[in-house]
Amino acid sequence: MCGIVGYIGTQAATDILLAGLEKLEYRGYDSAGIATVWEGEVNCVRAKGKLHNLRSKLEQIETPAQIGIGHTRWATHGKPEEYNAHPHMDTAKRVAVVQNGIIENYRELREELKGKGHQFVSETDTEVIPHLIAEFLKNLPPSSSSSPLLEAIRQAVNRLHGAFALAVISADYPDELIVVRQQAPLVIGFGQGELFCASDTPAIVSYTRAVLPLENGEIARLTPLGVEIYNFAGDRLKKQPRLLNFNPAMVEKQGFKHFMLKEIHEQPGVVRASLEAYFNPAESTESPINLGLPADLYTDLEQIQIVACGTSWHAALIGKYLLEQLAGISTQVHYASEYRYAASPVTANTLIIGVTQSGETADTLAALAMEKERRQGKEPKYQARLLGITNRPESSLGHLVPHIISTLAGIEIGVAATKTFTAQLMAFYALALDLAARRQTVSKDILEKIINGLRQIPKEIEATLESQERLTEQLAHEFAETKDFIFVGRGINFPIALEGALKLKEISYIHAEGYPAGEMKHGPIALLDAKVPVVAIAIPGSVYEKVISNAQEAKARDSRLIGVTPVKDGEAGEIFNDLLPVSDVEELLSPILTVVPLQLLAYHIAARRGLDVDQPRNLAKSVTVE
Ligand code: F6R
Repeated sequence: MCGIVGYIGTQAATDILLAGLEKLEYRGYDSAGIATVWEGEVNCVRAKGKLHNLRSKLEQIETPAQIGIGHTRWATHGKPEEYNAHPHMDTAKRVAVVQNGIIENYRELREELKGKGHQFVSETDTEVIPHLIAEFLKNLPPSSSSSPLLEAIRQAVNRLHGAFALAVISADYPDELIVVRQQAPLVIGFGQGELFCASDTPAIVSYTRAVLPLENGEIARLTPLGVEIYNFAGDRLKKQPRLLNFNPAMVEKQGFKHFMLKEIHEQPGVVRASLEAYFNPAESTESPINLGLPADLYTDLEQIQIVACGTSWHAALIGKYLLEQLAGISTQVHYASEYRYAASPVTANTLIIGVTQSGETADTLAALAMEKERRQGKEPKYQARLLGITNRPESSLGHLVPHIISTLAGIEIGVAATKTFTAQLMAFYALALDLAARRQTVSKDILEKIINGLRQIPKEIEATLESQERLTEQLAHEFAETKDFIFVGRGINFPIALEGALKLKEISYIHAEGYPAGEMKHGPIALLDAKVPVVAIAIPGSVYEKVISNAQEAKARDSRLIGVTPVKDGEAGEIFNDLLPVSDVEELLSPILTVVPLQLLAYHIAARRGLDVDQPRNLAKSVTVE
């Protein structure tokens, strides 16, 4: 949440900062701002709303400044107004700060600083930081430090409680850009005679691939001479940048109207990449699954606890189904935000899995950190049994847990998760099959059959995409003004009902709920009438007839029924008013297909309503605050 960028070098900073912010807008878009240092002054320009508002303001201001910081905001403390936009400054306007995170003790600091004559103009937690830095700067004994700005910032961050990443410049130190990381991401980029910093790599990859992600509790001083890194105690640290493997084409729309639509269409490729990475070729004599995880991670495993949020939580529910049904391991799925305050009892033979595409979700990280801490001091088995599933192995999650399954979706820009969900499902298929193979809970033949089935999925998604584009667009035309939607599914497709409802809610702002179809009659059915359409996911298999009966019950209450179902015979056409047909695949594999028409339906409804599909209101892609 919130994106920060910084630049120091020989080019005009403003353009570079704006280009960087554009790539970070997915992290928040309530307001944006930049500050540069030029002719002994900090020049700060901020605008409410999206980045184009800031861009228009900056058109009238030309500054050749070669150092600056920028911010795109997802509001936490204070309304999304210009006076709350970052950068924030001290009373004398000599120090400017951008922050991503939350300063938990800001009230107390604010009162203390007010008592010392500091004047505050915003409602934010961030504003205390430039004031605190200015206060420490004022009180530093003369020539006590080779970099007074660094020293004042070091003292200031030691007073801050919370999770934060900072970039700071000062009119009095025009050759220094100081950045800090404490539980919020911050990466430094090394160019030719120039240095960058950002919350995330897409903001800097067009300039450099040489990057150095800071770790928690680190401060870096970026100057024309290079980068110095320190810990919060002031000790100098030695670190080397590494080369990033990144394709800039991934952050372009490539002819699609929105990133979300492009990302939906990338799903066959994501499944192919996952098949190639997680499964050995059919003719191989080795184990069919290759996740690169050590065998002792699985030994004597008794249960699995999964923590996740949002769409990742839905993927985890499908993971639970697979782990229990294929590998016979009891699995619980928790909202990370709940688990961190009410964890299950810890045992040596419990594997904890955190699922987060960004690898930066504050609640998921906190739940895992809590779990890691309470396992500390116990036998090694406890400590090893932490696994992360993420699309960003270089993220904070990657630093936190000893084992990672990298999902292979490529960077996802649309705020609504689509291809990363599919990639997470692929990771769970591989994990559940790996466990099933090691525990011998399924026969070799069944294992082979499932893997062969997975190999057919990419072309089935392609067929679904081709047939559904027009159908979902037509339905979108009819449902664009609908107020409420219900999605139902059962078994392995119940989480897809939840995901279909979430996609619709978040990008079209239409109220939608997902239910296990059998639960409808225990209350929610009271909501149904001719104005409330019901989308039912009905896949032949263990619960097909049950879902069909539940759908009939909805139809009897005048709901218009939309079926996500294979059209094998006339039955589906008779029951459902509208069809979103999918191929007739094994029920166990069906979620990777059934989610696609629901993503498209949500997309087309939102696009039809003229909404900002890629940046829905109030949301941000990385939820780095609690
Ligand atoms: C929904 C969506 C969110 C995220 C959730 C967790 O489309 O994107 O619900 O799934 O914020 O994010 P990660 O997976 O990054 O932890």
